[in-house]
Amino acid sequence: MRNEMSLKFLKSLLFLAIAIVGFVRAMYDVRIETFTKIKGDIETLMEFNLRLIGRQHLLNGTIVNHVDFDDTFEIFSHVESFVNGEWKASPMAVRLKVCAFMDRIYGKYWESSLKDSNMPIGKEACPFKKGEYHIKNVEFHADNWATYAKRGQNMIELRILKNNITYGGFVSTGFLIDRNI
Ligand SMILES: *[C@@H]1O[C@H](CO)[C@@H](O)[C@H](O)[C@H]1NC(C)=O
Ligand SMILES: *[C@@H]1O[C@H](CO)[C@@H](O)[C@H](O)[C@H]1NC(C)=O
Repeated sequence: MRNEMSLKFLKSLLFLAIAIVGFVRAMYDVRIETFTKIKGDIETLMEFNLRLIGRQHLLNGTIVNHVDFDDTFEIFSHVESFVNGEWKASPMAVRLKVCAFMDRIYGKYWESSLKDSNMPIGKEACPFKKGEYHIKNVEFHADNWATYAKRGQNMIELRILKNNITYGGFVSTGFLIDRNI
């Protein structure tokens, strides 16, 4: 079980959080390879019911918030990149209160990719309210993901926490590919 888990982790990598980082403007396409939800330690209050659809591996499904996520919660997110045969932590790991995360990370890097969605935008995203949000056939645009994530395979893990207890999250892996212009 343990081996399976670490293999999965190793194979993995990712992308959403990739976004989290940096300031270099890079022209990448993103191909998501895996998306696995993380359950809460005790209960899962934020559920990422998302899966990959079709040949393009578009991200589709719902995010269900069972409570309002205000600043009593934090979001922890980190990225690893597979470089020269090894997984390397990106210098960018964030641990922010929900409102700061929604403003600085979600609002800046992810929101613009969610074309067909009722996810909150701008100030509506804080607190991130109880409810069910759909995300349909999302393709991530990495242009503004100035990133410390590298070309190639990446992994992102995101957890929602309160007092260091996990209440949900996801691990996703994927590739950043140079865009054909
Ligand atoms: C995509 O997600 C929506 C909910 O956001 C769902 O209604 C739909 O069935 C999903 N499509 C597929 C092909 O799973
Ligand atoms: C949570 O964990 C971090 C890092 O492990 C630690 O620095 C911090 O003091 C912990 N906070 C609480 C409320 O336990």
